[in-house]
Amino acid sequence: MILDVLWHDVECGGYAEDLPLWRRLAESETDGGRGPVLDVGAGTGRVSLDLAARGVSVVALDAEATLLSALDERAAGLPVRTAVADARAFALGDDARFSLIIVPMQTLQLLGGPEGRAGFLRSARAHLAPRGAVAAALADALESFDSESDGLPEPDTCELDGVRYASRPLAVVDEGDRAAIHRLRQVEDAGGAVTSEAHDVIRLDRVSAAEVAEEAEALGFTAESALRIPATDVYVGSTVVVLRG
Ligand SMILES: C[S@@+](CC[C@H](N)C(=O)[O-])C[C@H]1O[C@@H](n2cnc3c(N)ncnc32)[C@H](O)[C@@H]1O
Repeated sequence: MILDVLWHDVECGGYAEDLPLWRRLAESETDGGRGPVLDVGAGTGRVSLDLAARGVSVVALDAEATLLSALDERAAGLPVRTAVADARAFALGDDARFSLIIVPMQTLQLLGGPEGRAGFLRSARAHLAPRGAVAAALADALESFDSESDGLPEPDTCELDGVRYASRPLAVVDEGDRAAIHRLRQVEDAGGAVTSEAHDVIRLDRVSAAEVAEEAEALGFTAESALRIPATDVYVGSTVVVLRG
């Protein structure tokens, strides 16, 4: 398996707390729960595949072709189409209209601030069916921590062919309008020896649901009541902003 795909699965694949919410929205917002739903930042398809397995047709959009190739393979026989595109400026064709556009797992906070979000919102609005909705999850404020003073959280792991892949959060560093999540990715052989390790950093824009609602209203959306995804022992909770086109 390609390493990008593997690390994506290790770091995102175990999250399931949000799935009931996306299922409910697909049911209530699309025709008899059949879709179509646009899943923005779909990655290897954690949410797309879950919805498609329930009969919802999905277009899975991501900037990373390798992740979408893995999704394509996993979606064999399911009503999923993939689109390699930048969420900040996409055009999927004149007939591509969705009654629901979802942005799970903080992808909206990966778009590089207000300009990137505005680009996404404009593109999303152009792809919404009449009265369609955009629903985007925003992580609750990430507390800064570091391994020296706070200890290390448990890593996300998977084992493949006797090799163990572990991704351990090392620190969340406050960078003002962003939070930088530092991780150590380690590969261990069957005897427990570390055969490679690398440092990875992901930066999440700090933005509240109220700020996104205000930005969206300036572009012609109507913000509805936000929804909640509860925190777990491992994952922070999220607020899901719902924007009507
Ligand atoms: C946190 S992962 C979420 C993956 C998947 N939605 C899930 O919930 O498991 C964020 C995803 O957004 C994608 N992404 C980040 N920036 C993007 C952009 N500008 N356009 C499209 N996709 C983007 C990444 O490639 C990655 O797959």
